[in-house]
Amino acid sequence: MPKPRPSRPYDVVLYGASGFVGRQTVAYFARQAGGPRWAVAGRSAARLQAVRQACGAAQAGVVVADAADAVALDALAAQTRVVLSTAGPFARHGSELVAACVRHGTHYVDITGETPWVREMIERHHDAAARRGTRIVPGCGFDSVPSDLGAWGVAQALWQRHGERCASVKACFSLRGGLNGGTFASLVNMLETGRRRELADPFLLNPPGTVPADPLPHADPVAPHHDADFRAWLGPFFMGPINTRVVRRTVALSGESPFAPDFRYQEYLRFGRGPGAALAAAGFAFGSLAGQGALAFGPLRWLAAALAPAPGEGPSERAMDRGSFRCDLVGVGERGSLQRGCIAGRGDPGNRATTTFVCEAALALAFDAAALPGGAAFGGVLTPATAFGAVLAARLRRAGMTVEPLD
Ligand SMILES: NC(=O)c1ccc[n+]([C@@H]2O[C@H](COP(=O)([O-])OP(=O)(O)OC[C@H]3O[C@@H](n4cnc5c(N)ncnc54)[C@H](OP(=O)(O)O)[C@@H]3O)[C@@H](O)[C@H]2O)c1
Repeated sequence: MPKPRPSRPYDVVLYGASGFVGRQTVAYFARQAGGPRWAVAGRSAARLQAVRQACGAAQAGVVVADAADAVALDALAAQTRVVLSTAGPFARHGSELVAACVRHGTHYVDITGETPWVREMIERHHDAAARRGTRIVPGCGFDSVPSDLGAWGVAQALWQRHGERCASVKACFSLRGGLNGGTFASLVNMLETGRRRELADPFLLNPPGTVPADPLPHADPVAPHHDADFRAWLGPFFMGPINTRVVRRTVALSGESPFAPDFRYQEYLRFGRGPGAALAAAGFAFGSLAGQGALAFGPLRWLAAALAPAPGEGPSERAMDRGSFRCDLVGVGERGSLQRGCIAGRGDPGNRATTTFVCEAALALAFDAAALPGGAAFGGVLTPATAFGAVLAARLRRAGMTVEPLD
């Protein structure tokens, strides 16, 4: 049996704290007034000491554990109530840590977008985590919090305001941000380990028995179109093949569901109005397909790797501060009512917003257990909406983000 969590020395351990996003999570925790008992963790004591010093986080403990060292990871998981991991590629550095958290009944959040790996974690750990009331919540970064919390929030509002279950939601993203070396490494790792076919499965993360007989209407969009609800030209969103799978898992896990049985979800990138926007959307759609094809080809992938930032690198502070994102949503009820929603924030989505999302998720696990959906004993390999729901939405609002159903 796991030790009761409240007796553990730490509330939250930040694993991967010396990485590009990891360092930002340390700075975020260092700013929490009167808050959690926490530690930085990773494979190198020297790099952890350096990040602690650079972020003015002398109060944080230090835990050293390589991602392949199951004994050290067991010791880590036994010392804390919650693990927040930013050590990716997660398919390389995440599996032993999740297993240790499940063994010790330690809640876990991360920022992975590697859906084939998430599928593996579901198969290995969902049942045990559910039995123990342990929340294992991948995908708590920019992929996939806005999509998941957004679709869930719109469906909730349709039910509460109109008494209608939600038949469909579409989301439309605008963003300004940069690329991290760790994100590029994770993408390349997925392609090099032959996960392309799994990535294309629209119901990759669904529990058995929840996949519709005809998945074709749920296929990822590939062509641009003009959308009357958003009054703009839209193109396929490159993160859609990640986020849509997470939203569909949320729908499948939502017992007393605000979602209709044949619920549909898709997401897009906004290009604006007029012929120039139409042309840009078409060019981007074609470029995305060409880019995916090129990355599947070894020599072109190596060339791209030479041009992309290396692991540990990412956009400048100035570029991250100037970034932003906005996710507009439109939901349609079973009887045709419309419900709009919006999730938006300032700062680079893959860094500033991702840091806020995952840190607030970890803090919710540490401090809001009784208010979380399903109550304190609920667990499993979950999604942001099923694990946190309105609790995370409220925390994100307090952190300065817009998270609203709109009138
Ligand atoms: N959801 C989102 O929107 C989002 C946004 C950004 C990033 N991400 C994902 O987050 C992950 C991290 O991104 P990043 O830019 O921060 O990458 P990064 O700078 O390369 O950081 C990777 C981290 O993993 C650690 N690590 C590597 N090998 C390890 C091992 N054997 N044992 C323990 N730790 C090990 C590194 O430790 P050292 O410092 O010791 O090398 C470092 O802390 C990536 O998978 C990326 O795709 C997601």
